[in-house]
Amino acid sequence: MCGIVGAVAERPITPILLEGLKRLEYRGYDSAGVAVIEQSGALQRCRRSGKVSELAQALLNEPLHGRLGIAHTRWATHGAPCERNAHPHFSGSDLAVVHNGIIENHEALRAELCGLGYEFSSDTDTETIVHLLHHKLKTFPDLADALKAAIPELHGAYGLAVISASQPDRLLAARSGSPLVIGLGLGENFLASDQLALRQVTDRFIYLEEGDIAEIRRNSVQIWDESGALVEREQVQYHEGAEAADKGEYRHFMLKEIHEQPAVVQRTLEGRLGSGRVLVQAFGAEAAELFARVKNVQIVACGTSYHAGMVARYWLEALAGIPCQIEVASEFRYRKVVVQPDSLFVTISQSGETADTLAALRNAKELGFLGSLAICNVGTSSLVRESELTLLTHAGPEIGVASTKAFTTQLVALLLLTLALGQVRGTLDKATEAELVEALRRLPTHLGEALAMDKKVEKVAELFAEKHHTLFLGRGAQYPVAMEGALKLKEISYIHAEAYPAGELKHGPLALVDSDMPVVTVAPNNELLEKLKSNLQEVRARGGELIVFADQQAGMANGEGTHVIGMPHIHDVLAPILYTIPLQLLSYYVAVLKGTDVDQPRNLAKSVTVE
Ligand code: G6P
Repeated sequence: MCGIVGAVAERPITPILLEGLKRLEYRGYDSAGVAVIEQSGALQRCRRSGKVSELAQALLNEPLHGRLGIAHTRWATHGAPCERNAHPHFSGSDLAVVHNGIIENHEALRAELCGLGYEFSSDTDTETIVHLLHHKLKTFPDLADALKAAIPELHGAYGLAVISASQPDRLLAARSGSPLVIGLGLGENFLASDQLALRQVTDRFIYLEEGDIAEIRRNSVQIWDESGALVEREQVQYHEGAEAADKGEYRHFMLKEIHEQPAVVQRTLEGRLGSGRVLVQAFGAEAAELFARVKNVQIVACGTSYHAGMVARYWLEALAGIPCQIEVASEFRYRKVVVQPDSLFVTISQSGETADTLAALRNAKELGFLGSLAICNVGTSSLVRESELTLLTHAGPEIGVASTKAFTTQLVALLLLTLALGQVRGTLDKATEAELVEALRRLPTHLGEALAMDKKVEKVAELFAEKHHTLFLGRGAQYPVAMEGALKLKEISYIHAEAYPAGELKHGPLALVDSDMPVVTVAPNNELLEKLKSNLQEVRARGGELIVFADQQAGMANGEGTHVIGMPHIHDVLAPILYTIPLQLLSYYVAVLKGTDVDQPRNLAKSVTVE
């Protein structure tokens, strides 16, 4: 949530900061700003409400030239999204701060600092940091010492960067609950909240750990850990193509990411399938021993990742015979939980930095779980570092705020987990495992076939352009797929969408159905098909218009008010992965028709590092 970029170099850094902000805009985009120490030694800033492009335009008119600077793109938490609240925030004329996260004791700090004579010019919690630091500088003239003195007084989760015109050779950073990475150059160094922002300038990174404070100069980096000890952190070379931050031939990142799914699913499977079985060691060296003891699974996640976990519950209970509970992280973390004996704690997260999911993992460690497993897309994330076992999803950077390829790769990873647990515990027979491993190998081809239906889905999207409400129905493991379809539609087209298990229709939502409320259904050819068909009759009888994504062998045909889109036939267990694709395409094309900002929908952010 929010993006930070910083640079200390021998060349003009404003273009680097701006490019970094553009790459981070998926994290927050309601205002943006940059502050640099100019050649004259003066600290100058430029801020704008709205997107980074507004800031870039403003900088064309009033350029900022400097070799040390910080920049920020904001997703408002405290204070409305306007220029006055945009970062960087100043104290006096020579100290500037940018900040991600929340300072929870900001009200008390504000009162204290006002008592000391500081005047606030914004409604943000961030401004308390910069004034507190200014105050500490009176006792600790060195910027790093002042920051070390201020940090214990800041409660909450944050990542922050500081520059001072009086000490113009360094950039200071502190991490507590919100990620920061240092990018290493030759005679220049950089800072960002995500390495994606810096891939234009370097491929060598140091990830700060919880509690770290860093002093970054042109030719050196010093890091102190939580206890104040000077530490060496590992340098990581990043190899993945920098083109990930590029839309290529596609109009939007979301469409590009939808079309990447066959390739990234293939990548997620690589090295994890043996002959007729899942390779359990893919989950880590200790996985086999741990999995053998697992009698229960507790899954915790947020948003789209939560929906992936809901599908996994059907798989874990049906295929591996393991009881499974699933809960959204924001509820789990604050609830008194009764932990079943021998439970494995599983988190699912694209970013690995979602505040609630991380907090739930930290709580779980106190609750007596057998161990923790993270299913995550970012190998360097906090979630991965704090979990005992990890299975990476290899979806590559996902830029569109609405999650697509992260979801399908999570589903693949969760099916691998199901098969691995069933195998190790002996609850899944060998023939079924081999059959599903074969089906998984064919999955990328089936996903390609589903994507080839692009134009048909685009046509059907026209039915939604003027509608205000929709209903999504599914049964069994397709119910969470319907939930994910509804989430996609509301996220990017702002149409109210609700998902129901089809069997619940008559217990309330049927009252809403009329010709103005399209009903979207996913209908693979399984044992619930006939029951689903009856549910659909209930809709048609009330004049509701049906859009049905159905297995070609399901025997469903177009008719008045019924639009059937034939899907490739697939193994029933894998159907949730396949049927996700047309629902993603549907929401995408509805959003395009409505002219919304597909990749950066209003009020949302990609990575939610605040509660
Ligand atoms: C935000 C994103 C969603 C995502 C959710 C959980 O709300 O907009 O797309 O599903 O966070 O994020 P995570 O990174 O933990 O999967």
